[in-house]
Amino acid sequence: MEASLSLCWLVLLLIASSSSSYAARLFDATSPVSPPQLARYSLLNGLALTPPMGWNSWNHFGCNINEDLIKQTADAMVSTGLSSLGYQYINIDDCWGEPARDSQGNLVAKASTFPSGIKTLADYVHAKGLMLGIYSDAGTQTCSKRQPGSLGHEDRDAKTFASWGVDYLKYDNCEDTHSLSPKERYPIMSEALLKSGRPILFSLCEWGVQDPATWASSVGNSWRTTGDIADNWNSMTSRADENDKWASYAGPGGWNDPDMLEVGNGGMTTEEYKAHFSIWALVKAPLLIGCDIRAMDDATYGILSNKEVIAVNQDKLGGQGKRVKSKNDLEVWAGPLSNHKVAVILWNRSSTNATVTASWSDIGLKPGTLVDARDLWTHSTVSSVSGEISAELESHACKMYVLTPHSTTRS
Ligand code: GAL
Repeated sequence: MEASLSLCWLVLLLIASSSSSYAARLFDATSPVSPPQLARYSLLNGLALTPPMGWNSWNHFGCNINEDLIKQTADAMVSTGLSSLGYQYINIDDCWGEPARDSQGNLVAKASTFPSGIKTLADYVHAKGLMLGIYSDAGTQTCSKRQPGSLGHEDRDAKTFASWGVDYLKYDNCEDTHSLSPKERYPIMSEALLKSGRPILFSLCEWGVQDPATWASSVGNSWRTTGDIADNWNSMTSRADENDKWASYAGPGGWNDPDMLEVGNGGMTTEEYKAHFSIWALVKAPLLIGCDIRAMDDATYGILSNKEVIAVNQDKLGGQGKRVKSKNDLEVWAGPLSNHKVAVILWNRSSTNATVTASWSDIGLKPGTLVDARDLWTHSTVSSVSGEISAELESHACKMYVLTPHSTTRS
């Protein structure tokens, strides 16, 4: 067991150390908008070379969780086909633990709701080909105040998570933090995870308070750039806006996180949820589903299972798209993809119907470039488009395209 863990770890380090040639390949691409930067490769755990995809319990269930829910969610992830589209992580958020550590100082799963323990749950999830995520906190208590945080117990807790077979840690930022800043507290857990003997994706959740985009790429694989999302239009759009200014800091191995998806929770219209999912995909956000996937309606499933939108998020170049034009709530967002392609979103954020247009100069294409424009929501292609792309959109609706330049007109 020990030997196979060390072998696994060695393989990961080899992958990580080859990341500079991977990075060099990225820079071969001629991208119309800025490609991700080399600095993003500094956390050498080899994980999250594309944004993590999965599910998290918090947005829909809050503290109302138990092991049956987690198992049923894993079952649904497979039976709905979502796992085969890339959704891998089943992440337990706050409220999984007893309020106190055991006599040796270890965290303990709550007996009334997780009686079989986390290791058994991890085994169950792994047997389905999925990964298990857990949650802790860089303070003395988690945000629910129902279980201890990991401050001062980082090595012990990282080892516990590794021994349980945990694959992902979301690490929150609640009190008491002993007056230490996130920059001081988060690297301790990062180190502890690296030493734990198991590759564990590290997701920082300090809500953007200390501008983590500027320092967390050497600490974790994703970092929240915002406070908590709520299931409404204003909250979703403001998370997108706050996250946008950090676009140049994201890249393979380290991603800006504007918080988890609300698609399917009922507080937005289908068009608003399509825009939410499209923007999260374009900005290379982790795609963590936040609804009850055991009971999704067709519209929700249709959004979350859109392979072409997912492919933009998972494109190997890893360049975060951003807002490139905004006037009277009519916006164009765009980002680079591998093989000279460009992803574009036309987004009507106004309260009436309107036409939104992206001209080639807005998205970094030369004036004479001809493109084939693939509409990722209607799944249809318009050939040889030149100069601009335009759409009439209902209030709050968007169009999302991948533009493939004809090679003869590209340069
Ligand atoms: C918040 C965090 C949420 C959720 C919650 C749990 O701080 O941003 O995503 O984890 O704590 O209490």
